[in-house]
This record gives sequence, structure tokens and C-alpha cells, in this order.
Amino acid sequence: MIMENLAILVILSFVFISIIHHILKSKLGIKTHKSSTKFPPGPKPLPIIGNILELGNQPHKALAKLSQTYGPIMTLKLGNITTVVISSPMLAKQVLQIHDQICSHRTIPDTVKVLNHHLYSMGWLPPSSPQWRILRRVCATKVFSPQQLDSTQVLRQKTLRELMDFMKEKSEKGEVLNLSEIYFTTILNSVSNTFFSINLAHYEDSCKSQEFKDIIWGIGEESSKPNVVDFFPIFGLLDPQGARARMSKHTEKLIAFVDGLMEERLKSRALEKETTNKRCKDVLDSILDVMLEDNSQILFAAGVDSTSITIVWAMSELLRNPEKLEKTREELQCVYGKGEQVLEESHVSKLPYLRAVVKETWRMHPPGPLLIPHKTLR
Ligand code: HEM
Repeated sequence: MIMENLAILVILSFVFISIIHHILKSKLGIKTHKSSTKFPPGPKPLPIIGNILELGNQPHKALAKLSQTYGPIMTLKLGNITTVVISSPMLAKQVLQIHDQICSHRTIPDTVKVLNHHLYSMGWLPPSSPQWRILRRVCATKVFSPQQLDSTQVLRQKTLRELMDFMKEKSEKGEVLNLSEIYFTTILNSVSNTFFSINLAHYEDSCKSQEFKDIIWGIGEESSKPNVVDFFPIFGLLDPQGARARMSKHTEKLIAFVDGLMEERLKSRALEKETTNKRCKDVLDSILDVMLEDNSQILFAAGVDSTSITIVWAMSELLRNPEKLEKTREELQCVYGKGEQVLEESHVSKLPYLRAVVKETWRMHPPGPLLIPHKTLR
């Protein structure tokens, strides 16, 4: 609480100094630095804080509005960071596809640097680095390859069956459900089964399950919440919002947890060698094969929140639009009948309306509206 107050104090002091500076400049004609002409146009920055205040509490909407004035490529000054914002599909293609070699680096948020996570993680390593290439290859061949996904599909279907049973039981009792928590649990289990062949959460909350959910929520929150240190690195030593300290705790717990799973698996693999019992290989097996310890964590944290948020929004929009819900239901019944068959992942191609619902959900409620910001090499 003290740290939060300190952060607010720091920001307010900046705002105050900026306003005084601005008034002095306009009333007394004091000249400060000239803005560079190399950058695209953008709103006039206040001294020190730049355009931070223009972002408001829904930055993606504020940016869309600003781009109507300044065009599809504009410059904002966010504290010490000069940021170029792209807001058209054509420019996005230029940056993310055509010139991706020079535009795919990252500005690393302070919280991500805890325990040197950024030095091992695919999301933060420069794509020119050999480690990033190895990790990318491992993902393509060992995590997301059709064979690997096929071999773990049965585990995700089990998760879906548990969700359906739970929903049925609750609806028969006429109980109210918190969809957000339920989908989070489902996706967490779906990912944890794909990776480790176990359920990490339960619908009827146990302490352990809640603790794990808190870690994943916590990591998501700390890595996406604005942090004053990212805009003013000079405050790095202070960690005024306490974000780095909280992130350290969450990350330590997650690492200890994954370490524990790895140790257990190494022991059971050793035992399996001595017996004839064979399991189907999950992602943890594949990762242990290549000994890339750190990355099951990033995939894990990256995959749970984004997917469960998408489902919550898709369901909310369908409930708000009953005729679209009916159309989606009809399409599912057409493909699967009215029984309780478990969906095959390969059948998604037979569900164009459902796919359109998901894409529209991403358009209306993108889980990562600003992507993970990119940094240019030059
Ligand atoms: C609705 C679901 C998802 C959304 C909306 C989403 C969104 C994103 C976005 C916007 C980025 C940044 C891309 C960029 O900077 O150009 C990203 C990167 C990433 N995502 Fe996801 N994601 C989703 C699901 C997943 C899942 C299921 C996994 C893994 C199991 C995952 C793992 C990753 C990883 C590892 C990266 C970093 C890639 C790199 O830097 O090379 N994501 N995601």
C-alpha cells in the first residue's frame, strides 16, 4: 500500500512539474528541446511524462481514436520511451511480416527481468539469437506439431468432458456459475494435461488449486499492468509500485512447481526404463528430451489467460446476441447431432460459423490488444 501510494506520488509530481513547465513555456516563451523530425506525427508530448495521460485506462481505444487524427502511423512519447503506433493492416504487414527481422525485438518490461527470465524465454529473446531459434524449433516440432497435438488430444477431451459434467450437475441443481473461473480452470487443465498429463485445478476449489490459479493470474497481471519503472528507468532501484517484488514471488513459485514436476517425471522415467510400462509422451517428456527447462513455464503462463479470456468474451457476446447463439448451436448440432459426443479438434474446419465467432471475439475484445510491443533494431 505504501509502495502504491509512493508510485501515485511520483506520477503526480511528474504531472505537476510537467504542467508548470508547459505553462512557463507557453506564457514566457521558454524554448526546450526541438522534437525530432525523423518520427511520424503524433500528439504534442508534455515535458517528462510525454503522452502518458492520453492513453487513459483503455489504451487500445485511446490509440484508435488518436490514429483518426494522426494517421495509421504515429509517434507517442511515453515517459522516456519513444513509441511508434501502427494502426492499419497494411502497415502491420510491413512491420510484422516484411520487415520482421528488424522489427521483432522487444523492450523488456522490468517485471519480466526477475530471475533473469528474459534471458531464457522465447517471448523476450531477440529472434536473431540462437536460443530463440532453438526454442522456436522445439515449439514447432515438439509442442505444436500435428503428431504431438494428436497424441495429447485425448487428455484435452477428458478436460472438456469434466467441464460438461460439472456444468450439467450445476444446471440441474439450478446453481449460478462464475463462467470466468470455470473457463480458467478448464483451460488451465487443458494446457496442464497437454504439458504434464495432470489436472492442476478443480472446479470445486481446493486451496492448492486456488494457489496455482493465483500464481498464473499474478504473473499475467504484473507483466501487463503499467509500471512506472518502464517509462522512467531511473526509478528501477526503487521498484515504487512493488511490481518486481510481487513478480519475483510468483515466478519463484512457478519455477519451484515446474522443477518439482520435472524431478518427479525424471524419477518415473527412470523407473519406466526398468519396467515395460509405457505412457504416451506429453510435452514435458519432449522438453526433458531437449532439456529446455525454462520454456514450459512461458508457454504455460502465455496460453492459459489468453485462451480463457477469449472464451469468456465469446460466451458473453453470444448470450448478448441470442440469434447468434442459436446459429452457433445449430451448426454444432448439424456436425455432432444432439448427443453428447466429445468434439474432435480436427473437426474445427467443419465449424466455419464458430470460427467466425472466435475471430469476431478477438476483433472486439483482443486479449492482448497491444501485442507484446516490438522494438526496432534501428
Ligand atoms: C486466444 C489465445 C491467444 C492469444 C490471443 C495470444 C496472443 C499473443 C500475442 C499478441 C503475442 C505477441 C505476438 C507478437 O509480439 O508479435 C503472443 C506471443 C506468444 N504466445 Fe500467444 N496467444 C494465445 C494463445 C497462446 C497459447 C495457447 C500459447 C502456448 C501454449 C501461446 C504462447 C505464446 C508464446 C510462446 C509467444 C511468444 C512468441 C515469440 O515471441 O516468438 N499463446 N501471443
